Parts: sequence; structure tokens; C-alpha cells
Amino acid sequence: MENNRQNMADIEREIPVSEPERQYYFIGRAKEALRKMEEAAGRQLSFCVTTFGCQMNARDSEKLTGILEQIGYIEEPDEEEADFVIYNTCTVRENANQRVYGRLGQLGRIKKKNPHMMIALCGCMMQEPEVVEKLKKSYRFIDLIFGTHNIYKFAELLATRMESGRMVIDIWKDTDKIVEDLPSERKYSFKSGVNIMFGCNNFCSYCIVPYVRGRERSREPRAIIREIERLVADGVTEVMLLGQNVNSYGKTLEEPMTFAQLLQEIEKIDGLRRIRFMTSHPKDLSDELIEVMGQSGKICKHLHLPVQSGSTRILDKMNRRYTKEHYLELVRKIRKAVPDISLTTDIIVGFPGETEDDFQETLDVVRQVRYDSAFTFIYSKRTGTPAAAMEDQVPEDVVKDRFNRLLDEVQKISAEICAVHEGSVQTVLVEMKNDHDHSLMTGRMSNNLLVHFPGEESLIGKYVDVRLDECRGFYYIGEITENNR
Ligand code: 5AD
Ligand code: SF4
Repeated sequence: MENNRQNMADIEREIPVSEPERQYYFIGRAKEALRKMEEAAGRQLSFCVTTFGCQMNARDSEKLTGILEQIGYIEEPDEEEADFVIYNTCTVRENANQRVYGRLGQLGRIKKKNPHMMIALCGCMMQEPEVVEKLKKSYRFIDLIFGTHNIYKFAELLATRMESGRMVIDIWKDTDKIVEDLPSERKYSFKSGVNIMFGCNNFCSYCIVPYVRGRERSREPRAIIREIERLVADGVTEVMLLGQNVNSYGKTLEEPMTFAQLLQEIEKIDGLRRIRFMTSHPKDLSDELIEVMGQSGKICKHLHLPVQSGSTRILDKMNRRYTKEHYLELVRKIRKAVPDISLTTDIIVGFPGETEDDFQETLDVVRQVRYDSAFTFIYSKRTGTPAAAMEDQVPEDVVKDRFNRLLDEVQKISAEICAVHEGSVQTVLVEMKNDHDHSLMTGRMSNNLLVHFPGEESLIGKYVDVRLDECRGFYYIGEITENNR
């Protein structure tokens, strides 16, 4: 297969119209352009992909990395040392945008000193017209800008920039296209994200994602299974199925299929040991899925189920399409089917019109569910979303106060739950050397919690049993009990 692809990339041929052949062809052209640039520089050129935001972006960055490596760039972890820097951006909250502008200013100064440097921007932020206008006006040193829908065309866009020497901007409003079989790198050899769907049709009133990621479309189950089978053959034992709303997987397929059915198919893949997924929308979490989770030997005991608010009144204004009671009922059903499941969530504080009573409802859900952990966010006004036009935006000091009270509650409960597992033995997948203490290895349990324990680097990618000696709030310090699994 690889050899065929190399042939396809023969730059003497006519430009293919079909994908992915076209992109392999442009990888060939970019390769040639890079060779000339390296000759001029008198050295090998390097790249750095910097990711902002969610797991979807992290997976997209692996695809960008795969293409850059095929072109022949070498990876440089330090962005300030790299010759080609690409920012894969997020725009879900305003502060994500501010961070990008801040860091771009710094990159611009570095570029002045490195004549071979190129800078590219892609991802969700680029789907906002005001952002691109601002970049065109005030950040002229950027070489390439593209969006979320045409990321598969990265090789073509890069080759065009390299050959023309001009700034290239290509943003699409939407797409119904899914291009399969492009190259991709993996950050970890033993685990991988796998996109099962793209886009979102839910239009929660605060959220910009449906505007920047476009309409929901599912990948064909056969393509997903084939990708996972290849990953497993290449040493992967854990996959994270990715989508903005995985519970509505398959609705748009020619032969519709439910997410629960897809999970059952994936479960059959020999050699695959762990299946994770994210994100689930409560309104689409079916009894069928709960049942499949209860029976599965591979689906991890963790469910991320964003509640956003505990107030039915606010949930309605958020267009979430469930009530507080419905959510609590779902939690009850899941806990019954999978008793030791770990539940995590996302919560927004300060949505327009949120009163102290509404906030108390959120605290009440937190206390009733007792989340293993919760991501808490201050509401951020995103231009173009219905919530941005709502009256009664909550004053900043009130939001901050609620946010702090929520965080205290969430952290107190997480620590209590974490302490419950102390002393137990858990199977973990060893992921990496501990960042701070290199004599320790870090492993992930089925319920997604981390444990640090003395061990050898050779354990990375293996499953070992670890005793959880001491809980430190949201992680553990432990000891291996057996390492021959
Ligand atoms: N403000 C604050 N948080 C937001 N999220 C999405 N949009 C906004 C916004 N405008 C949060 C939600 C979502 C998570 C990924 O980001 O909680 O689940
Ligand atoms: Fe945004 Fe709601 Fe879609 Fe999640 S489900 S991406 S919060 S619109």
C-alpha cells in the first residue's frame, strides 16, 4: 500500500482529481519544494504543531503531523526553534482566541530572525470571518490559513504556499465530505483517538461549535472498523472514539446504525482491549447504549456526560432538550447497569439569566451525582450564537463568586470519591514516564484516573496491576503488584 502511494505521489503525473490520491500527489510536490528550501538553508527543516482545545483537535494535529513527516520535515517540540509552526486553534471560549493572538505576536518576532520560517493557522477559530479579517490585516507574516472542513487538503495548500511564496488562505463554510486513508501520526504507540463523526447539529444556544465544525456527518462503520483493525495490528490496544455527540452516531448514514451497534462491532476486534468515547449528549443517551456498556468487557468504566446546568429553566434556554430530572434519571440507570462507573461532566456558570436559585440547582446536581471530576467553565459570549443576544448577562463578580463556590464543591467531592479506591488493586495501561519524577511511571485506569508508581520505562504500553496506596486528590501514588499481563 505504502509503495503504491509513493507511486501516486510521482510529481510528473497529471494532478489526480479524486481523494486521497490528490493529496498524496501534493505530498510529492511539497517534498520537492522542501528539498529546495533545505538546500537553500543548508540544513534539515523542522516543524512544530501546537494544539489548542479538545481531543478532536488533538487528533487533527496527528493528521497534520503525519503529512508533515511524509513531506520530510523533522519534528521539533520547541515551537520557538521550529521552521514551520502550525497552530491548530480552538474558539469554544473567547480566552482561547486571546491566547492565540498573544502567542502569534511572539512568533512574528521570531520569524523576523529566521528567513526559512513559515507559520500556518487552522482549526475552529479560522471558521470565524472576523478572525481571518484581523489576521489578514494585522498579522501579515502568516503564510497559510485554512479551516476545519478542508484540513484534508493540508498537503495541497502547503505545496501551493511553498511553490508560490504567497500567503494562502482557504476557508470553506461547510462540507459533507469525509476523506479516508490520509497519512496520520500517533502521539502514543499504544492508544489512539478515532473520529467516528464530525460536526454537530445540536445548536446549544451558547455554543459556537455547530457554526465552526459544520453539520453532523458520521463515518461509515466499515471505515472506522478498518482503521481500528489497522491500529491494533500496529500495537494499539486502547481507542477513544471521538465526536461532538457520539450518541447520535449513524443517523445520517445511508444504512443507519446506532452508536451502541457500532460499539458492539468494535468490541469484536481481537487484540483491542479498551474502548473509550466522548462526548455524550444526555438527550441522546439510549437505554440500548447503557445496556451495551453494562455487558461490555472492553468499554471503559467512564462516562463523560456534560450537564452544563442543573436548572431545567436554564437548560431550556440553553436548548439542551433535557430536564434536571431526566438527567438524574439517566445517571441512576447508568449506575445501576455499571455500578463502579466513573462519571465526569462539563458545567457552565453564568449563562445569561442564571439566578442564584438556578445556580443552587446546579450545586444540587453536583451533590446528588457526585462526579469523579467536573470541568467547570465561566460562560463566554460567542458572537453569532443565540445566547450572545440574550438579555440579563450575569455580572462578572457574581459569576466569579458562583464559579469559586462550584469549584470548591466539585473538588471536595472528587477528593472524597478518589479516597474510596485507596488500597484497591487496579489494572492500568502504562502511558508514560512521570513528568516531575522520572523514577515514576504513569498509568491510566479503566475509570480514567491516573496512578503514579515506581517502574521501568519498558512498561510503557503494557497493562499492569497496581495497588493504589495513597490518594492525592485526583490521582494516586501506587505500587505494582504484578507486571506480566
Ligand atoms: N462558554 C463557556 N463554556 C462553553 N462551552 C461550550 N461553549 C461555551 C461557552 N460559550 C463548554 C461546554 C462544553 C465544553 C466543551 O465547553 O461545557 O461541554
Ligand atoms: Fe456545542 Fe452542544 Fe454541539 Fe456540544 S452538543 S458541540 S455543547 S452545540
